[in-house]
Amino acid sequence: MTKKQYVVANWKMYKTAHEATDYIEKLLPQVENSSVRIYLAVPFTSIAPAAHFAKGTHVVIGAQNMNDAREGAFTGEIAALMLKEAGASFVLIGHSERRHIFKEDAALIHRKVIRALQDDIQPILCVGETLQEFEQDQTQQVLTQQLGSALDKIPPEEASRIILAYEPVWAIGTGKTAQPNHIQEAHQICRSILAELFGKKIAATIPILYGGSVKLENVSKITETDNVDGILVGGASLNPQTLAMMVEAIEKKPSRKPKK
Ligand code: PGA
Repeated sequence: MTKKQYVVANWKMYKTAHEATDYIEKLLPQVENSSVRIYLAVPFTSIAPAAHFAKGTHVVIGAQNMNDAREGAFTGEIAALMLKEAGASFVLIGHSERRHIFKEDAALIHRKVIRALQDDIQPILCVGETLQEFEQDQTQQVLTQQLGSALDKIPPEEASRIILAYEPVWAIGTGKTAQPNHIQEAHQICRSILAELFGKKIAATIPILYGGSVKLENVSKITETDNVDGILVGGASLNPQTLAMMVEAIEKKPSRKPKK
């Protein structure tokens, strides 16, 4: 059975609310008949208008970050419940820019995953090694640590609501894409760690996406790699036409069966 494929667009700090609705208006007719799950991680101010525009379509709107507390005196922060009410169905957690620029540590990322599950917003957990760790052949060790801490004490039935994104830090926004054999190996490592944590059956249901300089030119090669259930795209997702073409390329993957 062919698994569902995902395209997650991470807009980062780009696009005003007006630009967001304009984008969605252009994207929707191009992906109307697609079976690929299209998730847009938009800036906070675009969530409500984007969700309104995407309502009733298969385009799903989400956020790029959230606080780990339910509510509280945390000036400038945003809670899962607020995101949900605005129309967000998912949230990115542990993105490398949050880990490295905003110094989010493993304990905070773990608390955010727990909070997201508790407050019923789907977490997309991002993990990946730095260039130095890659060069020192530490990918397995890093993934074991990051997944072990982020998913600690999560019951298997809850784990099946998570999406995982493997994003080597050295490939994000750098134009350097990991080679298919590295992606395949890293995804296999993630799958085995998930199996150890939650059992093989649950682990098989958790989508594992690849992110890091995914472009129209390399999307087919990446998504044809074993164990890749989709992509997380930053820079190349900012143009709706490019995103639609990526979705189309995934739809045409030789291993994919026609839609039922
Ligand atoms: P990129 O970003 O596609 O621009 O490398 C990926 C990401 O931020 O997840």
